[in-house]
Parts: sequence; C-alpha cells; structure tokens
Amino acid sequence: MSARRVLVLNGPNLGRLGVREPEIYGHTTHQELAEACRASGSELGLEVEVRQTDSEAELVGWLHEAADAGTPVVLNAGAFTHYSYALRDALAQVAAPTVEVHLSNPAARESFRHTSVIASVVTGSISGFGIGSYALALRAIAGSDA
Ligand code: DQA
Repeated sequence: MSARRVLVLNGPNLGRLGVREPEIYGHTTHQELAEACRASGSELGLEVEVRQTDSEAELVGWLHEAADAGTPVVLNAGAFTHYSYALRDALAQVAAPTVEVHLSNPAARESFRHTSVIASVVTGSISGFGIGSYALALRAIAGSDA
C-alpha cells in the first residue's frame, strides 16, 4: 500500500523561522522543520509535503487542492488564524482530517491571538509544543481512519 499523503501548510512569516523572535518560536529553521515533518511522517507511514507561503490566496488555493484530492492537512495559518474568513471557508471544504497547529500557545499571548476563526472548522488543534506540535498533529492524522 502506498503511504498516505499529508499536506503541511505554513502561512505568513513562518518562512522566517530560526531568525524570527527565537525566544517565542525557537531556533529551528523552516527547512529543518520541513525535514522533521517528513521524518515524523515516514515513521508513521505518511508521505508529508511541506509548503510555506506569505500569500492568503496561495493558501486558499492549496486548501482547494486538498479538498479536491481528499488530502489531510496540518495547517499553521500564522496570523491569518486570527482573522481570515477566506481561509476558514476554504478549510471548511476539506473533508479529510485537518489539524490547526501553532508553535506557541496563542491563548497565553496577546488578546488578538485568543481568537481563531479556523478552530471551528478543523478536526482538532495543537498549540504550544514548538515544532513538536507538528509531530503530534501528524500522529493524530496517522491515527485517524477518515
Ligand atoms: C503562530 C501564532 C500566531 O499568533 C502568529 O501570528 C504566528 C505563529 C504560532 O505558530 O505560534 O505567525 O501561528
């Protein structure tokens, strides 16, 4: 049986991991994060593809692709989490399992981060474990039978 495909989608500013506020987001670069996701995926029998964009339109397009192909998604929408109804509506079309992830714990930070407009349309959410949030999300997808 071929490995189940999973898309890991990272939104704005996440391409700057490693140099961006390392006291909050850690020292791991986006490339290292992508490698860690692929390694976790292969242990779990998942074929993981990691993408990053600063563009809301591109993220919406990738979610349409996942919706049409029935591909599970791990999404760190970055700041779009807090206000993008376009992303929320695109995510609502994905029938396969979807996991909202965050490196930090937005609930413990500034009040504008306490709202997630995508939380109500994902299968589940994992926050606050640094890059470990992604490994946990992939494990959740591997354990789902949808
Ligand atoms: C983040 C949290 C968001 O509030 C922030 O805008 C980000 C990163 C996280 O991974 O902790 O860009 O999604």
